[in-house]
Amino acid sequence: MSIISLRHLHKRFGKLVVLNDVSLEIEPGKTLVVLGPSGTGKSVLLKHIVVLLRPDKGEVWFEDQRIDHLSERKLDPIRQNFGFLFQMGALFDSLNNLENVAFPIVEHTDLPRERAYQIAQQKLEMVGASGRRVEDAHGTVRRNA
Ligand SMILES: Nc1ncnc2c1ncn2[C@@H]1O[C@H](COP(=O)(O)OP(=O)(O)OP(=O)(O)O)[C@@H](O)[C@H]1O
Ligand SMILES: [Mg+2]
Repeated sequence: MSIISLRHLHKRFGKLVVLNDVSLEIEPGKTLVVLGPSGTGKSVLLKHIVVLLRPDKGEVWFEDQRIDHLSERKLDPIRQNFGFLFQMGALFDSLNNLENVAFPIVEHTDLPRERAYQIAQQKLEMVGASGRRVEDAHGTVRRNA
């Protein structure tokens, strides 16, 4: 079964038709690469998968649920299944890399902070990066470039 399914998506901005009947199925464990010249709609396509954009016509499914018409509140738990790296970078620039990776774990789980930071550290190490937790005496996070 597909984990993500895009069905006959149409999206236009004014006169500019960006998606014209786009369908695709993404299966669990598979890697899919979308290639194309600049301005042809790759980012627009990705934003439909996480419903940052909504189609003019067509459907977006995650597992067995249609998601393109859900409210932001109902999308919250679904979006927790996604990692999304924005093209222009969208890290919290007041936080260091470890704190950025730990942020969603702290926000969306009941794990103790220490455990959340351990997990974040492990994830950074998986990609050859590492981070250091920096807090002052009051527990306030300080910038650590
Ligand atoms: N929110 C928006 N409002 C109006 N036009 C938009 C919007 N988002 C994207 N576009 C337009 O849709 C088209 C496709 O944009 P998109 O960002 O998906 O391209 P891309 O394939 O990701 O390009 P690149 O390779 O440069 O990242 C472009 O012409 C862009 O200007
Ligand atoms: Mg893009």
